[in-house]
Amino acid sequence: MSIQTKASRVTVSTLRKMKAEGEKIASLTAYDASFAAVLDEAGIDIILVGDSLGMVVQGHDTTVPVSVDDMVYHSRCVASRCQRAMLMVDMPFMSYTSSQQALETARRLMQEGGGQMVKLEGGEREVETVRKLSEQGVPVCAHIGLQPQLINKLGGYRVQGREHHQATKMLEDAVALQEAGADALVLECVPEILAAEITANLDIPTIGIGASPACDGQILVLHDILGITPGHVPKFTKNFLQGNKRIQDAISSYVVEVKRGTFPATEHCFES
Ligand code: KIV
Repeated sequence: MSIQTKASRVTVSTLRKMKAEGEKIASLTAYDASFAAVLDEAGIDIILVGDSLGMVVQGHDTTVPVSVDDMVYHSRCVASRCQRAMLMVDMPFMSYTSSQQALETARRLMQEGGGQMVKLEGGEREVETVRKLSEQGVPVCAHIGLQPQLINKLGGYRVQGREHHQATKMLEDAVALQEAGADALVLECVPEILAAEITANLDIPTIGIGASPACDGQILVLHDILGITPGHVPKFTKNFLQGNKRIQDAISSYVVEVKRGTFPATEHCFES
């Protein structure tokens, strides 16, 4: 039996190879088929169907109201036009409170939504869930640092890991998640020095959002890079439509700047 794979599709081994060879991973969110096609064409390596859709598509204040049905629907839309990029899908709030529930959520996101990797927020608390998912053949990206699903506990979106004990814990969590089988790690709103230390201590790639160019890759919310986010614009983002006439060119500029390591610049980063 010969196994046919699309030669150019980004897989977990592609991501590890990119880290080993020092090639930066460019990633963005998308929630529909048309933008998925634009991102794929521009050379985005990972398209994330993020639960940020609760804010940018559904108009909520947080990601908390997003359901598994919402994620499956948007994932299926994106999957229909995503050919080269790896399709990563967020496990929404309260959809992975036990390993059993997490397995069922991942099954839906992959079998019904067409996802190739799932992303879940949490450090030590999620290590056993990551292990169970990984044992069943589910590629997992863990998400530490600022965890937007915890917003009602945190009371605000703040930089994480500035205190010495928090930084030590974050590094320990990152290593534990890798040992449990995580294939990638998103670091959100983390000071540059800590992001660099975590990245250097892992074999799996780190993908930063507000976590400096020290990470192995970058991820941003699509609406932020097109300058259509209403209200407060996060410090770590950049409007790539400025200086470009077409959305396609803005996305290509983002890919080029991430690959060259010129984005994020100092003004997009946080100090300890
Ligand atoms: O939901 C989301 O968009 C995310 C980010 C990392 C971009 O989790």
